[in-house]
Amino acid sequence: MKFEDVKKITMIGAGAMGNGIATCGLMAGYTVALRDVEQRFVDNGVAGVKSSLAKFKEKGKITPEAHDAALARLIPIVDLKEAVKDADFIIEAVPEKLEIKQSVMAELDKYSPKHAILASNTSNISITEIAKATSRPDKVIGYHFFNPAVLMKLVEITKGAKTSDEAVQIGYELAKKMKKVPVIVHKDSPGFIFNRVNEPSTLLLSLILQDGHPTPEEFDAAMKPLMPMAPFELMDYVGIDIAYHSLDYFAKVLSPEYKPSAAMDALLKAGTLGKKTGKGIYDWSAGRPTIDLSKATKEYDINHLIALQVNEATKVLDEGVAESVAEIDLAMANGGGSPFGPFALAQSIGYNILLERLENLYKKFKLEVFKPTELMKKGDIKV
Ligand SMILES: NC(=O)c1ccc[n+]([C@@H]2O[C@H](COP(=O)([O-])OP(=O)(O)OC[C@H]3O[C@@H](n4cnc5c(N)ncnc54)[C@H](O)[C@@H]3O)[C@@H](O)[C@H]2O)c1
Repeated sequence: MKFEDVKKITMIGAGAMGNGIATCGLMAGYTVALRDVEQRFVDNGVAGVKSSLAKFKEKGKITPEAHDAALARLIPIVDLKEAVKDADFIIEAVPEKLEIKQSVMAELDKYSPKHAILASNTSNISITEIAKATSRPDKVIGYHFFNPAVLMKLVEITKGAKTSDEAVQIGYELAKKMKKVPVIVHKDSPGFIFNRVNEPSTLLLSLILQDGHPTPEEFDAAMKPLMPMAPFELMDYVGIDIAYHSLDYFAKVLSPEYKPSAAMDALLKAGTLGKKTGKGIYDWSAGRPTIDLSKATKEYDINHLIALQVNEATKVLDEGVAESVAEIDLAMANGGGSPFGPFALAQSIGYNILLERLENLYKKFKLEVFKPTELMKKGDIKV
């Protein structure tokens, strides 16, 4: 199959990500079937699509005609066989569990046309493992959008062990057609690029929580003037459970040092998960927490966090997960809130400054995850 042959996309799972990705497909001119296991979930997904399209229309990003035409191309559906029988490109965004992903992929393999590409929006799970449930691992790709999918530009396209270049290329061109910024992940490795580069910072937060020093507010106060949302505040905003499970996953697949601290455990067990429960590290019952900037710690600054990102990015480069410095920076700048990737930041801040921060963390916590890499020590990476 060639990219031009892709006419119909089927979205499996109409949750937060599913309805966002479906909207992207509709706006790019495709017919999109949106499938979930029960009508009420499909209805929720359709409501999400309608709301996003209405906002784009209000802001003048699409014309009223394009809005109506996009909605007319949406096929809300529960019947799986019907949803995939004539699909060319199928994207699953069902819950993040290998067993669920594999059983969904096996069904897709059984009922969809032989030429169809099966893409997974997994945040972390191995594409090679997911593909094993199918008879067409050459046509299975990772297709990782970021939340909210209608706004965030990055799509990480991961090659599993048996994925063909052709499947990756079709995914790449489709993402471009959806006005996204696709980045190819050449090696199917934990967290792909974006989540992997950010995970050491989450580990640092978990360790600081455990130490009790500085307090989250003292730490956040030092970072907040330079970030749209301070790190602990963000952890609460996204959910302590999400941070916990990603650390737990990295502990299993990358290094046991990522194991969530007892303090994270306690928050999880108490059900104080952050914004969604009204309390986490901060109290959210009266809205966004107030952080007293006068409490800023002198022990940490933003360069500690950047140093962790750059160091992990050098591992991603060295292991061949991403092809180049430019690709890593492209992924990092388009998946998150920063306008620059870690290598561009390192070049402007100076590797010597970041190395000093990293050595400081390495000495303090004595973890290999924080150990400066050779590339980091050399510090002559050109962007
Ligand atoms: N939420 C995020 O921030 C985010 C970001 C990037 C990637 N992801 C990944 O996207 C995937 C989905 O996440 P989400 O946040 O949209 O979850 P969600 O819980 O909002 O939605 C999942 C949907 O899948 C449906 N579902 C379950 N089994 C199904 C099946 N067999 N067929 C069809 N639908 C089925 C559920 O009913 C639910 O509506 C996960 O793999 C997650 O890791 C999430």
